[in-house]
Amino acid sequence: APTVITVNRDAVVAPVNRRIFGSFVEHLGRCVYDGIYEPGHPTANEDGFRLDVIELVKELGSSTIRYPGGNFVSGYRWEDGVGPRDQRPVRRDLAWHSLESNQVGLDEFARWCKLTGSELMMAVNLGTRGIEAALDLLEYTNHPSGTALSEQRIANGAKDPYNIRMWCLGNEMDGPWQIGHMSAEDYGKLAARTASAMKTADKNLELVVCGSSGSAMPTFGEWERVVLEHSYNYVDYISCHAYYQERNGDLGSYLASSLDMQYFIETVVATADHVKHKLKSKKTIQLSFDEWNIWYLDEHQASDEVNEEWTHAPRQLEDTYSVADAVVFGNLLMTLLKNHDRVAAASLAQLVNVIAPIMTEPGGDTWRQTTFFPFSVTSRLAKGEVLRPRIEAGTYTTAVYGEAPLVDSVATTDAATGESAIFLVNRSQTESIDVTVNVAELNATVVTEAVTLHDEDVYAKNTLQDQGRVGLKQLDGVVLDEGTLTVTLPPVSWSAVALG
Ligand code: AHR
Repeated sequence: APTVITVNRDAVVAPVNRRIFGSFVEHLGRCVYDGIYEPGHPTANEDGFRLDVIELVKELGSSTIRYPGGNFVSGYRWEDGVGPRDQRPVRRDLAWHSLESNQVGLDEFARWCKLTGSELMMAVNLGTRGIEAALDLLEYTNHPSGTALSEQRIANGAKDPYNIRMWCLGNEMDGPWQIGHMSAEDYGKLAARTASAMKTADKNLELVVCGSSGSAMPTFGEWERVVLEHSYNYVDYISCHAYYQERNGDLGSYLASSLDMQYFIETVVATADHVKHKLKSKKTIQLSFDEWNIWYLDEHQASDEVNEEWTHAPRQLEDTYSVADAVVFGNLLMTLLKNHDRVAAASLAQLVNVIAPIMTEPGGDTWRQTTFFPFSVTSRLAKGEVLRPRIEAGTYTTAVYGEAPLVDSVATTDAATGESAIFLVNRSQTESIDVTVNVAELNATVVTEAVTLHDEDVYAKNTLQDQGRVGLKQLDGVVLDEGTLTVTLPPVSWSAVALG
């Protein structure tokens, strides 16, 4: 049967909120040190930040950046990272078994965010610390002046408050690996008390309570229910974290990973709305999908790469991504957009070197991984409103998800500029697929861009030695005629078509 996609203007999911294109910088491996920060590098600025990396971050188009963790935050003392650099202590980071020099802290990172044009999203430590440290941090970042901690910030060079809006109430507190891991009951109470106190200081904060670290967690669903029953009135978002990888050579199931993300989102929405009903609340909790990516976690765990030497900035979690990874990745981003009415914010985990779209070599180059491309193109083209298209496509059988559609798609349209974009994935490993897209309602007259990420070798990668092996290609044979767009999607491909 032919593959037909119909894009109707009234199938609006939500206006595109730039926060869906967030990212994440954790003090982990070489993300900060020898990643965004490398004082001796030829492109480093006076703060030690690499300007070549900043250029790529801007090209990637990430918006909100979550900081400083991740697992790292659950043992972090934010005060260590402010004030004169030569007086900052070196500490052990138990989460990643590394040394933390604290040469980059909040003030430096806030300056870095300004240079990249991104919004800082902060996490507080609810692993080893609690309400007081969270309130102190909030006073330091957001209070204008005239108090001990706001004056300390001013003395440290930041006259104006940072006005950080989004705050994570800890990180992955459901995970037994988390420093200070708690039961849902205990965490729900602590999160509620912390959130209530933070909102007493500033009712306009947007607070993210920890949801599950993945849909396979044994507590998934029940964790969300219990945590939200305690904290519902004080929080605005619940977090979701999900990582995917190919397992046992099963590329077919891997290519359908977004079906798990869809299930994850629907389950959390159902649970949050159940609590809403139970508490007779008028407020709707949104999802902050603040960690998502491809991560070859099984291999990392099997190799037992614990940094026994307690070195500073070791090479950790440095996955190299293939074309197939980028196709799955692009599909995950499409899934976030398709659920944008409830997934109001998201953070790609992470940004530089650590499971990242951007890689660096000390003293040397920076380059784009395959996953860089779907993110940067989607971030640049997705404007106006998200539309959920009707998709009539064939299916294929997967071991993990049963029948999975061969094609997936999402669209955006911007009434202000008349520009639209269609994002498409072909999950077939063998066949090109001809797709007819009914776009008459978009009133488009011209195809302004048509690109695809595809390669004969689905496992082709960009590496230090071959940085430009994989890139975007022109999507050939795209025709727009009287409101009908026809495209041919190569096997295992992610594509974007922009219309004007
Ligand atoms: O992004 C890497 C790690 O994944 C984060 O530190 C943690 O929150 C998650 O388990």
